[in-house]
Parts: sequence; C-alpha cells; structure tokens
Amino acid sequence: MSEQKATNVTWHEGLVSREDRYNILRQKGATIWFTGLSGSGKSTIAVALEKALFERDKLSYRLDGDNVRLGINKNLGFSAEDRKENIRRIGELARVFGDAGIIVLSSFISPYKLDRDRVRQLHEAEHLNFIEVFVDCPLDEAERRDPRGLYRKARSGEIKNFTGIDAPYEVPVNPQLHLQTNMLSVEEEVDAILEYLEKNEILAAPCSVCVDDKGGKEAVSI
Ligand code: ADX
Repeated sequence: MSEQKATNVTWHEGLVSREDRYNILRQKGATIWFTGLSGSGKSTIAVALEKALFERDKLSYRLDGDNVRLGINKNLGFSAEDRKENIRRIGELARVFGDAGIIVLSSFISPYKLDRDRVRQLHEAEHLNFIEVFVDCPLDEAERRDPRGLYRKARSGEIKNFTGIDAPYEVPVNPQLHLQTNMLSVEEEVDAILEYLEKNEILAAPCSVCVDDKGGKEAVSI
C-alpha cells in the first residue's frame, strides 16, 4: 500500500528553510509518539501536554486515533493491514508537521513494532526528532478503567480484533520515555516529557537544525 506509484515526480525546494520556520516559532519540530493499549492514558497525557506547551507559548498539535479515524482514515478498520496503513499515513502527517516546526502529539495504539519503527525511520531519515513514549498500563487496569465500555464488548465478542484481547500489542523495546500510568499522576507524566523536551533543546530556537542520526537522546524510564 505504500509503494511509490506516481512516476516523473520530484521534490520541489522552496526559499524558506526548516530552520527559518523553527526560528519563527522558537522551537524545533518533533513528533511525540504515544503508544499503548486502549485506555492506557495516551490521549489524556497528550491533552494535558498540549495545554502545558501552550502555556509556554509552544505550538503543538494533537493527532488522535479516534479523531483521525473519523476523517483521513475513515476507510480503515482494525486488521493488521489496516492498522499498518493507519500508522503509515499518520507517520507521514507527523513528518510534515515536524518539518513545519510543530510539536506533534500523536496518540495511537500502534501495536506493531515494525509499523512504529517505520515512522521512526521516516523521521530520522530527514533528521526530525522522533520521541517514542510507551504509555504503559497493565491490561487488567486498562480493562478496569474501560472508559467507553470497549473491553467489555471485546470480551463478549461484540468487537473483534481488539488490542490486548484478541489482537496483539508489541511492547516498545527501546522507547525514549517509559511512563507507568498506573503509578504516576498525569502531572508527573507531563513534567517528565517537558523535562525531556527541555533537555533535548526542542523548546528552543535552533542553533542548528539537525538532531544526530541516533536521535541523540537518552532513554528515560520512570
Ligand atoms: S491502531 O491500532 O491502528 O493504532 P488507533 O489508535 O488508530 O488503533 O485506534 C484505536 C481506538 O479505536 C481505540 O482507542 C478504540 O477507541 C477504538 N477501537 C475500535 N475498535 C477497536 C479494536 N478492534 N482494537 C482497538 N481499538 C479499537
């Protein structure tokens, strides 16, 4: 689904650079990629982080599983193939936003390691920051929260291919941040991410645009 179909197309450069855009915004573009089970807290953290960044005059934008599936990805379901295409499209969107200078807060279960790794590669190939945040919540706790009754429906067989029940979730191997949401408050989680962004100079105008090819980041687990 992701092969290049069109021929005779070439990238068209403009006269305003990524660095120029970053300097206008006094920040660097980045993708903060929240991954975790349904009900783990991805969207809750993204909403709180968006507000915290706004209060610091930093521009972020949330891409959220349910919202995106009502629009650009309304033609996709929950088979492995559709989830792959879901994540591929979001990855491309995030890359464009990052190039524009925006801090993208993306909240998708993104259960397959390979799909997440592809998004990381897409960013790193263009020297864009990609920060994988494992929103870690035990299945029994996510199921206890069950804010929209989806786990109950999945257990009864009313919903098929539900992540954690009859579809897999592949745990991130080396995330930049690992947040255990059954042990931390949302405020503590937001603070941990802000600290990470500060430390990696994402909230400052660039002296140089590029992050190093390894992402230049230490892993943090709290
Ligand atoms: S992903 O696996 O392709 O990354 P995504 O994050 O876009 O999933 O969408 C997950 C959301 O869709 C869940 O939070 C839940 O509200 C809803 N949903 C509906 N059916 C399913 C399902 N079978 N598996 C997981 N989530 C589902």
